[in-house]
Amino acid sequence: MDELQSLSHDALGRIEAAATPEALEEVRIEILGRKGKLAEISKGMAKLSPAERAETGKQLNLFKQKLESELEAKKAQFDEAALTARLNSEWLDLTLPSPGVLPGSIHPITQIQTEIEQLFVSLGFTVLDGPEVETEYNNFDALNIPQDHPARDMQDTFWLSDGHLLRTHTSPVQIRGMKTLGPPLRMIAPGRVFRNEEVDASHEHTFYQLEGMMIDRNVSVANLIYFMKTLLSAVFGREVTVRLRPGYFPFVEPGFELDIQCLICGGEGCPVCKQSGWVELLPCGLVHPNVLKMAGIDPEVWGGFAFGLGLTRLVMMRYGIDDIRWLQSGDLRFAKQF
Ligand code: DAH
Repeated sequence: MDELQSLSHDALGRIEAAATPEALEEVRIEILGRKGKLAEISKGMAKLSPAERAETGKQLNLFKQKLESELEAKKAQFDEAALTARLNSEWLDLTLPSPGVLPGSIHPITQIQTEIEQLFVSLGFTVLDGPEVETEYNNFDALNIPQDHPARDMQDTFWLSDGHLLRTHTSPVQIRGMKTLGPPLRMIAPGRVFRNEEVDASHEHTFYQLEGMMIDRNVSVANLIYFMKTLLSAVFGREVTVRLRPGYFPFVEPGFELDIQCLICGGEGCPVCKQSGWVELLPCGLVHPNVLKMAGIDPEVWGGFAFGLGLTRLVMMRYGIDDIRWLQSGDLRFAKQF
């Protein structure tokens, strides 16, 4: 008890005298720490009789509580003083002119989209918009994509819990266009599409396509090629090297893959063209009679072509962007260049 008394006296005095938070912490450790003075006294209690031990224990706890509250109070004083010092030293000059506001710029995808829209409008096409959340019917069935087609696989399609899906291409807008406008028909439909894909330099889960469709009497592959060439030379401002390969898409027959020579590497091979020198840019074909029929158009009278331009890939080609991830990065260092 004597030791406790003198420690108590000494400790409270030193707390009072502590000039800095560090000094205060030293006092705390010295007395309350695991190897501190209080612990030492506790150890000595083993030698006492049970009655004495009970009394000493009680006093020890009281002392400990007192000490802790004193430490707390002193610490609060230090905090308060630090805050006051900071408030006195820091200040804001509200009259200072701001560093200026940077003008925004149009995203390169929007730029190309607008250009292509203007081109097609000048050729008599209507610009249509379709929903990003689509029905399975419009995205697949009405496009003659059979139930067991791999494109319906869970890997590729983001399904919603109510049975809808995020459209995997802009082609469902063909269906909406045929039904609302009827033949003859010239439409394009730019927009965002979604695929459940592994993201890398040339794949994104979200990207842009531009769908096109023309339905009339006597539409031929020659008409298709004419429009595609007009489109590409307008976009690139020069002749680009293209090749046409047969391609399979359930909603066209015949179907084609129109590739352009990679403008990033000039055909040498790079990550964007997957080292092949060619980039698939423009799948297209003559509209399948089943698709016309399902949209209520008589394939004996009407025919047409359709294409699905990879808008994102087109932007990458035109500006020499070698990683698709930049486009949605929101990175101003990227965006400011356009
Ligand atoms: N919808 C197809 C896709 O995203 C692209 C496509 C191919 C669109 C051929 C068309 C077409 O209109 O005729 O893979």
